[in-house]
Amino acid sequence: MGQYTLETVPTPALIVDEVAVDRNLARMQAYVNQHKLRLRPHTKTHKSVYMSRKQLAAGAAALTVAKVGELQTMAQAGDDLLLAYPALDPARTEVVAQVARSKTVRVAVDSQVAADRLAAAAVAAGSTIGILVDYDTGMHRTGLQTAQQTVDLAQHVSRTKGLRLDGLFCYPGHINDTDPAQMIPRLKDVNAMLLAVLEQWKRLGLNTGIVSGGSTPAAWQAHHITAYTEVRPGTYIYNDRFVAGGGWCQWEDCAATILTTVVSDAVPDQCIVDAGGKTLTYDRSAKAPVLNFGNVREIQGAFIRGLSEEHGMVDLKDAARRPKLGERVNIVMHHVCPCVNLHDRGWLKKADGSLEPLPIDARGKVV
Ligand SMILES: Cc1ncc(COP(=O)(O)O)c(C=O)c1O
Repeated sequence: MGQYTLETVPTPALIVDEVAVDRNLARMQAYVNQHKLRLRPHTKTHKSVYMSRKQLAAGAAALTVAKVGELQTMAQAGDDLLLAYPALDPARTEVVAQVARSKTVRVAVDSQVAADRLAAAAVAAGSTIGILVDYDTGMHRTGLQTAQQTVDLAQHVSRTKGLRLDGLFCYPGHINDTDPAQMIPRLKDVNAMLLAVLEQWKRLGLNTGIVSGGSTPAAWQAHHITAYTEVRPGTYIYNDRFVAGGGWCQWEDCAATILTTVVSDAVPDQCIVDAGGKTLTYDRSAKAPVLNFGNVREIQGAFIRGLSEEHGMVDLKDAARRPKLGERVNIVMHHVCPCVNLHDRGWLKKADGSLEPLPIDARGKVV
C-alpha cells in the first residue's frame, strides 16, 4: 500500500481527522457526564471497530448497532450491545441469540411477534436476550402507539423464557429544530410521554432500568428528557454538512471528508471533482432551497450541486476562487453515515498529519 500522504493518496478518499474525532468524543462524554446520562453511541456512522473502541475508552458505557452483521463486528469492541432494530426473521434472531451467549445483547422491539421469535432463538441457543420496548414518540417509524400497548408487551416479555425486560426505547429523530427555543418544548413533550409510560410500568412492577433515546441534532438538549437513562447519538463522532448546517456543531467539527481531485474545469462556473454518487451517496438536504450534496471545505461558496455516478459538479458561481485542475479539495458530505458505508477503507489522519488505513469493518452489512 505504501506510505501515502494527503498529497499522494489516490482520490476519492475518505479522510478521518483523528484530532477532530477525539475532540467530538470528549465533548459528548463531558456533556453526558455532566447530566449523569450513559452514552451508548450508535456505531452506524463509523462502522469501525477502532472507533468503537475509542468511544468506549473515552467513557461510553455501551454500543448501539442496527444490523446483526454490525452486532457481530462490534462484539469485537464491546460487551454490551443494543440492536436498535426490530430483528425478527430467523437470519437475524439466530445471530442475536448466538452473540448473546457471550455478550449482553438487547434488542428494541415493538411487537409480540418479534419478542416471541427472539425468545425461541434464545431458548434454542441457551442464551437470554434483553428487550427494550420501542415506543413511538412522534417519528412514526417504529414503536408502539399507546402506553397500554407498551405495558402489554412489557408484561409479555417479563413472562417469556429466553427474554429479560430491560426497559423502554424511543428514537425522536424527527426533532431537529435549529432553534433551541423550538426544540426544547418538543423534547419536553417527549419527556412527558415517556414519564407517563414509566409511571404505569412502575406501578405494575415492570423493570424501567433503561430508558434509551437520542440523536445527534438533539444531543445537546437531551437533558430536557429527564426520563432518559442513556442517549444514542451516532453522527456526533464525525458530523457532516447536515449537522453543521443545522448549527448543531461547528464546521471544523466535521471530522470526515472526501478528499477529491479537480479533474475538469471546461464548463463555465463549475468544476468537476472525482467523487460522484458512488462515493458520496445521493443524499442531500430535503429542506435545502438549492440542491447541495456537500461543501468544498477549502473554498468559501463552492458546493456540489449535482452528481452523476463518478462526477461531482461543483457550483463555482459564488465561490471565493476557482480551484486549479489537479488541485485536491475536501468535500464535507451532506450525510456521513451512508457515505462511510460506500468505502472499504478510510484513511485516519493522525495528529502529525500522517495517514493510516482505517478499515470500515461493518460496511455493507445489510443484514
Ligand atoms: C434508532 C436510532 N438511534 C440512534 C440514532 C443516531 O442518531 P444520529 O444519527 O442523529 O446521531 C439513529 C440514527 O439513524 C437511529 O436510527
